[in-house]
Amino acid sequence: MKIIKSVKEMQEFSESLRNSGKKIAFVPTMGYFHRGHLSLMEEGKKLGDCLVISIYVNPTQFGPEEDLEKYPKDFERDRKLSEDVGVDVILYPPNSEMYPEHYQTFIDVEGVTNNLCGLSRPGHFRGVTTICAKLFNIVKPHVTVFGKKDFQQLAAIKRMVIDLNMDLEVVGIPTVREADGLAMSSRNIYLKEVERESALSLSRSLKLAKELYENGERNAGKIIDEAKKFIEGYPHTKIDYVNICDTITMEDTEYLESETVIALAVRVGKARLIDNYVFGEPLDI
Ligand code: PAF
Repeated sequence: MKIIKSVKEMQEFSESLRNSGKKIAFVPTMGYFHRGHLSLMEEGKKLGDCLVISIYVNPTQFGPEEDLEKYPKDFERDRKLSEDVGVDVILYPPNSEMYPEHYQTFIDVEGVTNNLCGLSRPGHFRGVTTICAKLFNIVKPHVTVFGKKDFQQLAAIKRMVIDLNMDLEVVGIPTVREADGLAMSSRNIYLKEVERESALSLSRSLKLAKELYENGERNAGKIIDEAKKFIEGYPHTKIDYVNICDTITMEDTEYLESETVIALAVRVGKARLIDNYVFGEPLDI
């Protein structure tokens, strides 16, 4: 397994792979791996001849009050886990490679980033789409894999790839959960023991929304109210949003007619957790 820190070296390596007819699969990450990351890599392994991942905690997607400084890191552990999955290259660039002096260019995907986390984390998606576009130009992948847990992020990346004519396939894969239903997230380590049960309010409220849908409820407001009431029944929770949106536009919908997703962001103690469920899909909880 190669570890590459330089943009130029990665570009040259990817170019040589492409010239020899190899298919490059790419998984961008911010490190501190859990099983969710590993499942993205396993999917990447299936989709390409060479699997490149990146580990880079991207400063431009964090707000001034967010956890950039204390975002968890453990490169040695990540390196070992990547090796076990069969990753071929880790791109591990320093900030000076990604945002050199005089850096001025950003990508703003409009529309799909206006709602949900776009409202509560201003500038977040601008940072995400910018870094992903840069990473795509550096790694030159044929296919890239993202988790559906960050549903709006996936929608924004898909939109950007279409709108900017990037020659790249974007694959979304299902959320990986703990046995009790909690969606895997690097931020779960912020949960104190007494908050762990409250964190289950997210996945359990999705299960409730699924049941309401399966019993014929199609009024978004009614499902949202039930989900909110359910979450508020747990201590230590503070709802950021509970919305039901069209899966392509990410705009709120009143009635569940097109393909829709219920998306949640809830603060549990210091952790801000997100989760979602696309109506009609399975939910293994
Ligand atoms: O989902 C993440 O971990 C990050 O937002 C990403 C896609 C690696 C961009 O920094």
